[in-house]
Amino acid sequence: MSCRKMLGIIALIAAVAVPAWALQEVSVDDYDAAMKTIGATQRGVRGHMEAQSATELGADGAKFVEAFGKAEAFWKARNVEDAAEFAATALAAARTFQEAGAAGDFEAAGAAFGELRQTCRPCHQAYRERLEDGSYRIKQGS
Ligand code: HEC
Repeated sequence: MSCRKMLGIIALIAAVAVPAWALQEVSVDDYDAAMKTIGATQRGVRGHMEAQSATELGADGAKFVEAFGKAEAFWKARNVEDAAEFAATALAAARTFQEAGAAGDFEAAGAAFGELRQTCRPCHQAYRERLEDGSYRIKQGS
């Protein structure tokens, strides 16, 4: 086999295999940590909006993007299309929020944050359950 062909095959294997490994990396614990980050970050947004801090809003946006990216990968890897769709919608809103926030476009950031927050409840209703001790977990059977 020619060297070029060989390289082509290696590149192809890498291109197909990398996303698969990346998807498997999001464990249930990673997912939980991502949700806790989302909750904590959300609580800071109002103050950062009032302070009109593009730096803080950009940082909040980056945290949302990373966390919802993990959430999407988690559900995609488990083939739960509906949940992956909620996560994808949240991720898209998070990206818009991050860009607008970092650019100091507070109106657009506010609108994107509103869209982001609309994704929480439907997904929680379908896929989250509350335990007796007040903590949460993924609904069994999801
Ligand atoms: C794609 C579905 C989905 C979306 C969208 C989503 N969540 Fe969650 N969330 C879950 C699931 C499932 C759980 C339960 C599993 C867990 O707690 O790890 C959860 C748990 C949580 C928890 C509890 C974590 C803990 O264990 O204490 C918080 C806080 C949270 N989400 C915040 C949010 C906020 C805020 C949003 C919207 C900005 C949001 N989530 C959007 C699915 C989602």
